[in-house]
Amino acid sequence: MKGVILAGGLGTRLRPLTKVTNKHLLPIYDKPMIYYPIETLCKAGIRDIMIVTGGSSAGDFLRLLGNGAEFGLKDIFYTYQEGEGGIADALRLCEHFAEGSRIAVILGDNIIQDDISPFVRKFERQDSGARILLKHVDDPQRFGVPELDGDRIVRIDEKPAEPKSSYAVTGIYMYDRRVFDFIRKLKPSNRGELEITDVNNAYIREGDLFYDVLDGWWTDAGTFESLFHANQLVARSTISAAASAASSPR
Ligand code: DAU
Repeated sequence: MKGVILAGGLGTRLRPLTKVTNKHLLPIYDKPMIYYPIETLCKAGIRDIMIVTGGSSAGDFLRLLGNGAEFGLKDIFYTYQEGEGGIADALRLCEHFAEGSRIAVILGDNIIQDDISPFVRKFERQDSGARILLKHVDDPQRFGVPELDGDRIVRIDEKPAEPKSSYAVTGIYMYDRRVFDFIRKLKPSNRGELEITDVNNAYIREGDLFYDVLDGWWTDAGTFESLFHANQLVARSTISAAASAASSPR
């Protein structure tokens, strides 16, 4: 399976931090943000990776990541999104890269503790459709929120004032080749973007959207509060992993 990291957009919610650089190059504890989604895909065995970037610092991705040798990759593919047309607009640019195969997509500001390998393997066993990952959160109104009926998702609302559940749709999505047909049919939302939530709702209408729920921590890092929180989560995990490695017998 191929992997896509969406790191376009202008990061306006983080100004002035994003005035002269791209949000995904900001630090999360000891590494630039973009390292985390790359590591998440690599850990799941995904070796063909496309990064969609945008804004004025696009060249810095190449300077930072090169061909991905640091991650054990042979190369990394890059493309450029003009403006801020939305997550589905950024994904649209990857149709030629996907070449009809299935893709695992991760938003460049999503940082996750779990290894997503088991979910990717489940998706590979699916006949068709899409698979998304949910996480229980205290503030669902900040996210795409699923309405559940038993173990089925009946609809996803984007940033609803009155959330129908306490789950967030995380920015990790797995799609079959039909995703690009669904994107072609999208209309911009009220905020002027092609919404990934509308893509997921199209799969729901086809009865072909499946999900798993994450156990470990997950966060985005697109606001000052969530950026700070992401730094704390990663710092705590890194420090405690180092402490247990140091205390375990050789
Ligand atoms: O983090 C999970 C949430 O991400 C989901 O629950 C929502 O359903 C989904 O719409 C999205 O919400 P946000 O409003 O937080 O997305 P944001 O605009 O912050 O974009 C997240 C990432 O997507 C960003 O880091 C880079 C990429 N992106 C975004 C836009 C708007 C692009 O590549 N191009 C874009 O035009």
